[in-house]
Amino acid sequence: MIGGGYVGLVSGTCFAEFGTDVAIVETNPDRLAALREGRIPIYEPGLDRLVAENVEAGRLTFGDDIAAAVKGADAVFVAVGTPSRRGDGQADTSYVYAAVEQAARVAEGYILIVTKSTVPVGTGREIAKIVRATRPDLDFDVASNPEFLREGNAIVDFMKPDRVIVGTDQSKPGGTQRAQDILRKLYRPLYLLERPIVFTGLETAELIKYAANSFLAMKITFINEISDLCEKVGADVNDVARSIGLDGRIGRKFLHPSPGFGGSCFPKDTRALTAIGRNAGSPMRLIETTVAVNEQRMKAMGERVIALAGGDVKGLTIGVLGLTFKPETDDMREAASIVVLDQLDRAGAKIRAFDPAGMETARPVLPEGVTYCKDALDAATGADILVVLTEWNEFRSLAPEKLQARMTGRKIADLRNIWNPESLKEAGFDYISLGRPDMVHTA
Ligand code: NAD
Ligand code: UDX
Repeated sequence: MIGGGYVGLVSGTCFAEFGTDVAIVETNPDRLAALREGRIPIYEPGLDRLVAENVEAGRLTFGDDIAAAVKGADAVFVAVGTPSRRGDGQADTSYVYAAVEQAARVAEGYILIVTKSTVPVGTGREIAKIVRATRPDLDFDVASNPEFLREGNAIVDFMKPDRVIVGTDQSKPGGTQRAQDILRKLYRPLYLLERPIVFTGLETAELIKYAANSFLAMKITFINEISDLCEKVGADVNDVARSIGLDGRIGRKFLHPSPGFGGSCFPKDTRALTAIGRNAGSPMRLIETTVAVNEQRMKAMGERVIALAGGDVKGLTIGVLGLTFKPETDDMREAASIVVLDQLDRAGAKIRAFDPAGMETARPVLPEGVTYCKDALDAATGADILVVLTEWNEFRSLAPEKLQARMTGRKIADLRNIWNPESLKEAGFDYISLGRPDMVHTA
C-alpha cells in the first residue's frame, strides 16, 4: 500500500484484518515515525485498536522502503493524494505517477497495480504506459479500485461497503482475468457478507468515483439552496428534507443543510469532474453550478454572522464551536471554518475556537489571531456571538444556561442546526440557524 494517509492506512489495515499481509509505505517522516511507535497520525475512531491488533498478528508493517514492500507482492495499491491543481481544478496525478514509477522500478515479478486514489479518467492507461516505459520486461496489469470510505466512519465503510468497484483493462482479456482473481481474493470476506462487487472497465471505474461524489455534493447543495428558500418563505427545511427523503427515490441521507460541503474529496472531486467534462467536450453544467454555489455559500455564512452582529464585528468576541469539515475527524481540508474565520478575522473580530479533534490541524490553516480554547464552554467565555460550524455530538448536549453564564452577548449562529430554536429562545438567545424560522428578538 503506497501512502499511509486517511485512505491508505484504513484500507491497508482493513485488508490486514481480512487476513492479507500488508506493507504500508509512507514517505512523510512524521506520519511514519508515529506509525512505527504505535501512534495513529490521524483521528479515525477505532483505527488504533485495529492497527495494533494487526501489527501484533504480524500482518501489518510500516516502512519507507518501497522495494521491500513491493518485493513478492501480488498487488501494489496506490493511495497517495490527488489534490486539485491550482488554476484549472484538474486532479494532480503527479504523486500517483511517481509512486507507480517507483514500484515498477523495483518489482521482481508479475504485479497488479491498483489505484485506490481518486484519479481522472484515463489515468489507468497512462499508468500502463509509464510502467511499460520504465520496465519493458515487466509482466503487469493495472486495475482501478476507487475507495468510498467516509472519514469518521472509515472502518465500517471499508469493511461493509455498499459496493466495491473493480475496473480492469478489458482490451486485455487474460490480464483482466488475472487482475480480477487477485482482487476477488482480497475482497473475499465481502462475498460472504453478500456485498456487491462490480467488475467493469478501467475508465468506467474511474468515472464512477467522480460521479458518486459529485452526485452527493449536488444533493447537499440542493438542500442548501432549499434551506435558503425556506428562510425567505417561512418554511422549515428539516421538515422539507425529512419529507422528500421519505420518497425512496430521493432517500433521506445527505440532505442536512450546512455552511457548505468541505473535506478532502467533494470540493476537489467536483472541480476535477468539471475539468474532465470540459476536456472531453461534455460540460458538467450541474456540477459547475454546484461548485460555484458551494463556494458562494461559505462566504455567505461569514456575512450572516456579521449581519447577526448588526453589520459590524470589529472588536467583538466570537466563540466558534467546531473547525473540522465534519465531526469525527481531525481533517481541516476545505473546511467551511477556513472561509468563515478568515472573513471574521479580516472584519476585526476576536475569535475563540474549540474543536474536539482538529486543534492541531487547524492552526496552520486558520488566521494567526485565533485563540484556541480547552473546551466548548471556554470558547463561549466572554463571547458576544457563538457560532457552530461543525456538529460534534458533544456540542448538542450543551445546556443553554451554561452558555448563557459564560457568554457576554446573547447571539448564536447555529450553522449546523444542532439545537432546538424554541429552547434557545426560551433561554433568551437571539438564535439563527439554517432554513428554519429565526428566533431573533427584534427589540
Ligand atoms: P493523504 O494526504 O491523507 O494521504 C496520502 C499519503 O501518501 C500521505 O501521507 C503522503 O505522505 C503519502 N505519499 C505520497 N507519495 C508517496 C510515495 N511516493 N510513497 C509513499 N507515500 C507517499 O490523502 P488521503 O485522504 O488518504 O487521500 C488519498 C487518495 O484517496 C486521494 O486520491 C483521495 O481523493 C482519495 N480518497 C480519499 C478519501 C478520504 O476520505 N480522505 C476517501 C476516498 C478516496
Ligand atoms: C466523502 C464521501 O461521502 C465518501 O464516500 C468519499 O469516499 C470521500 O468523500 P467525507 O468527505 O469523509 O466522505 O465526508 P462526508 O460525510 O461525505 O461529508 C462531506 C462534506 O459534506 C462535509 O463537509 C459534510 O459536513 C457535508 N455534508 C454531508 C453536508 O453538508 N450535508 C449532508 O447532508 C452531508
